[in-house]
Amino acid sequence: MILSERISRMEESLTLAITQKARELKAAGRETISFSAGEPDFDAPQAVKEAAIAAINGGFNKYTAVSGIDELKEAIANKLKRDNGLNYSPKNIVISSGAKHSLFQLFAVLINRGDEVIIPAPAWVSYPEMTRYHGGKAILVPTKAQNGFKMTPSELKAALTDKTKIVVLGSPSNPTGSVYSREEIAALGEVLKGSKALVISDEIYEKLIYGDKFVSAAAVSDDLFARTITVNGLSKSAAMTGWRLGYFASVSGEIVKAVTTLQSQSTTNACSIVQKAAIAALDGRSDDDIERMRQKFEKRRDLALAALGKIDGLKPIVPQGAFYIFVSHEAIEKDSMRFCLRLLENAGVATVPGVGFAQEGYFRMSFATDDASIEKGIAKIASFVREYRS
Ligand SMILES: Cc1ncc(COP(=O)(O)O)c(C=O)c1O
Repeated sequence: MILSERISRMEESLTLAITQKARELKAAGRETISFSAGEPDFDAPQAVKEAAIAAINGGFNKYTAVSGIDELKEAIANKLKRDNGLNYSPKNIVISSGAKHSLFQLFAVLINRGDEVIIPAPAWVSYPEMTRYHGGKAILVPTKAQNGFKMTPSELKAALTDKTKIVVLGSPSNPTGSVYSREEIAALGEVLKGSKALVISDEIYEKLIYGDKFVSAAAVSDDLFARTITVNGLSKSAAMTGWRLGYFASVSGEIVKAVTTLQSQSTTNACSIVQKAAIAALDGRSDDDIERMRQKFEKRRDLALAALGKIDGLKPIVPQGAFYIFVSHEAIEKDSMRFCLRLLENAGVATVPGVGFAQEGYFRMSFATDDASIEKGIAKIASFVREYRS
């Protein structure tokens, strides 16, 4: 066998596979509407672009410190204090090429063979895949729709063992849009007290929130602050997916050092120009743009929910954050892959099957697209469902 045992444990991202299939149909001349995208359709903030141009013109194009430039680390530390009430210092921060990169490296330095990683399901596809790649055991904890697809303290307690290395919390969640409240995080924190488990809090959708204020897991108690690694980035909040900038913060000097070592031997620093530009996304200059995008997303969410709500046989979960609606199609079809493939082939609408998030009977629809596409696409879903049922 040519390939390593490691890579054979990992599957290609289903999200990307469906986007590719939709692209192929489009290239073949078929009208398709894509609700599968995992990225904002907005442009990056103007201040970010200007900062990038200034960095280019200023010749800021050499290697930087592996874990990132001090100026950006300071901007991140200030942001974490201002927005999240977290007291991290710049030395607690490592900057990487996207939050996915931060997560991958964290899993790499933390997981030993057989270590367990608790992942509430439905879950973002990459958490279990990264866990398995690094030899860990993904413990998917099924959550319930009636609990807003949030893990309860008793579900966490039942999954926790002395092999638990990491508990992953993604709030707002991809794919369900659920958001954990301070009380809910505190109750999970109580379960973890006395255990050695670390928490990885993936806060990438933090700015896209439609209900109560967002709460960082590390901000809830001293115990959680000590055991939580806070992961974030600019892809979703500042519509900067292609720029590739993510980071984590942890009070553990050991973890910071280990990830820095790994990054020094693999990708080195995040792009120097992007690091300069990122400061403009975090220091307040882009706040109006970021808030404008959030408001647009909220309107689109309401538009999509109103239209989906009229379709007999579908049951959307109302998202409190992110830009996805997780929709139950259980009443008409149990198999999400079959449902989504037929929807794509017959109606030309691309969504992502719930099975890719470890949840059958649902599809994920992204509303990171314009109003006209949302209306047209949901109308197509409606007639597809009518035919499916008849
Ligand atoms: C839950 C979640 N975490 C992390 C990421 C990765 O973001 P980045 O573009 O910063 O790598 C994504 C992107 O889809 C995501 O949905």
